[in-house]
Amino acid sequence: MNKDVIFPNHVGIILDGNGRWAEEKGLNRSMGHKKGYENLRKLSLYILNQTKVKYLSVFIFSTDNFKRSKEEVDFLMNLFRISFKSDSKVFEKENIKVIFSGVKDPLPDDVWSSMEYITEKTKNNTGGVLNFCLNYGGQEEIVDATKKILNEVINGNILLEDINKFNFSKYLYNDLPPIDFLIRTSGEERISNFMIYQASYAEFYFPSTYFPDFDENSFDEAIKVYNNRDRRFGSIKK
Ligand code: FPP
Repeated sequence: MNKDVIFPNHVGIILDGNGRWAEEKGLNRSMGHKKGYENLRKLSLYILNQTKVKYLSVFIFSTDNFKRSKEEVDFLMNLFRISFKSDSKVFEKENIKVIFSGVKDPLPDDVWSSMEYITEKTKNNTGGVLNFCLNYGGQEEIVDATKKILNEVINGNILLEDINKFNFSKYLYNDLPPIDFLIRTSGEERISNFMIYQASYAEFYFPSTYFPDFDENSFDEAIKVYNNRDRRFGSIKK
């Protein structure tokens, strides 16, 4: 890619279309998630190691995804349980720090411990941050942050008037920079409760490709689109 390209510091991806990818091939929906993860592993290494993107947040399971069939939820939980343990070596070696945004309840204990395992194994890595949003909801994150702040105020640790839009993110699940570029694959055009605080000034991109087929070339195309955007942050063009 051309060296004058501007890369977003923080990219968010809503991985959509795994189910349709599988169904259109006459496969079980879960095969779409399996293929989606294989793609995600490869793509995240590309984005964080081969481009100048420093933070990548990916929506892998929302709090609302528990409404899906038991078979699909069990498959995904098993994929998490196995992959975070076995692939921790890959992320360790590639110098990527893995973190999670989301809550414990009602995740199975062994899924949670595999999340803790990979977090611990990669905590000193400096090559980029991969934030898995798992059992995550953006509204829930803001509500939980508000509760933390109230607790701090009640305990006399902070003053309510000292909370502002610059330090609020310290109380979110992770204190991350704003999302610059938000991609949702599969042609759907909604945010679905994904990082709504962090995406306040994000540029949005909705390619029609299903996530399992959204590869490195697709990402390069996305970066070209980003480079044609005019980010004004509420200001006007000089
Ligand atoms: C949305 O596609 C995708 C999900 C709800 C799950 C995404 C999870 C993965 C790719 C697995 C990640 C695994 C690890 C270990 C990090 P959809 O099922 O809603 O697709 P559809 O809209 O076509 O039905």
